[in-house]
Amino acid sequence: MTLVAVVPGDGIGPEVTAEAVQLLTEMQLGLEFDVLDHINADTYLATGESLSAGDLDRIGRAGSVLFGAVGDPRVRTPDYARGVLLRLRFELDLYVNHRPSFLWDERLSPLRDARRRHVDCVIVRENSEGLYAGIGGSLRPGTDNEIAIDEEVNTYQGVSRLIDYAFSVARRSVTLVDKANAVRNGGQLWQRCWREATRRHPDMQHHHLYVDAAAMKLVADPSAFDVIVTNNSYGDILSDLAAQLAGGIGMAASANLNPQSGFGLYEPVHGSAPDIAGQGLANPIGAILSAALLCENLALDRAASAIRAAVAETVTARRCTAEIGGTLTTAQAGAAIRAAIR
Ligand code: IPM
Ligand code: MN
Repeated sequence: MTLVAVVPGDGIGPEVTAEAVQLLTEMQLGLEFDVLDHINADTYLATGESLSAGDLDRIGRAGSVLFGAVGDPRVRTPDYARGVLLRLRFELDLYVNHRPSFLWDERLSPLRDARRRHVDCVIVRENSEGLYAGIGGSLRPGTDNEIAIDEEVNTYQGVSRLIDYAFSVARRSVTLVDKANAVRNGGQLWQRCWREATRRHPDMQHHHLYVDAAAMKLVADPSAFDVIVTNNSYGDILSDLAAQLAGGIGMAASANLNPQSGFGLYEPVHGSAPDIAGQGLANPIGAILSAALLCENLALDRAASAIRAAVAETVTARRCTAEIGGTLTTAQAGAAIRAAIR
């Protein structure tokens, strides 16, 4: 049995994660689940603790985590999300955030020109440093003279290993996205790592775009992109943009990976969506496609393909939730995908 930890979290996290877990269970893949459903905002509000040392141990013992979402309107500080999701990413050194976007059905694209709107790309987001490193501080907080500084951390090792991962998963091309024309030091470091990496991978096409131009081109012609590699904050923003181009954030999946240790944390790109939580409105596809990424990284390639084929079939037949043109609830949409597999 392969152990998979499950952290359903907050908001719609438990609903969508339940669909992914039930799907994997029914597929009989030899997975065993360790559910940590106490890791949520309720626990944080009651105890002040986001993630205990015991939780971290349990999660570390499993080789993978299926993660729902963190975030609750009652929690106003970033300490909570940082203490759960960012802590797992940083402490387990999950330096790759692999975020594929794929247009499952033509009618989900907001773009008019049919030849240009196909989406099948992966955003490879740096996940262990950048603006998320938590380095900085504030001076005279709470006053009119407040100064707040968040440093952007870019390391040669961190950037090089990320770019190598991007090349390792590319099928057609890799595009580096940065802002080297304005952000001098980090820009130069990324450019040096990029030049070296392109020499290590001479057979793959490569392109470079500044982030503003990349955002424009993603909307104008998403079919031009295969793998985009970028830093932590640009990757956060562009992956929401790419997700929307492919039919919406409810369908977007992600894997937080350390390719060396093999550890992975799999989560939908969407957040906890407190406004729709508990109403059966959440789309389980983001969580289910994250489970497909888990299968792929556990070498269960046939299971991953079967899940994707079932998603394609149900989306095309509109056996899906309302925000992508169906009439089903979260649980019914999950059941429709499981039925398509059988
Ligand atoms: C994501 C989320 C997180 C991030 C938040 C919850 C800290 O937006 O996974 O994209 O910015 O990384
Ligand atoms: Mn995000």
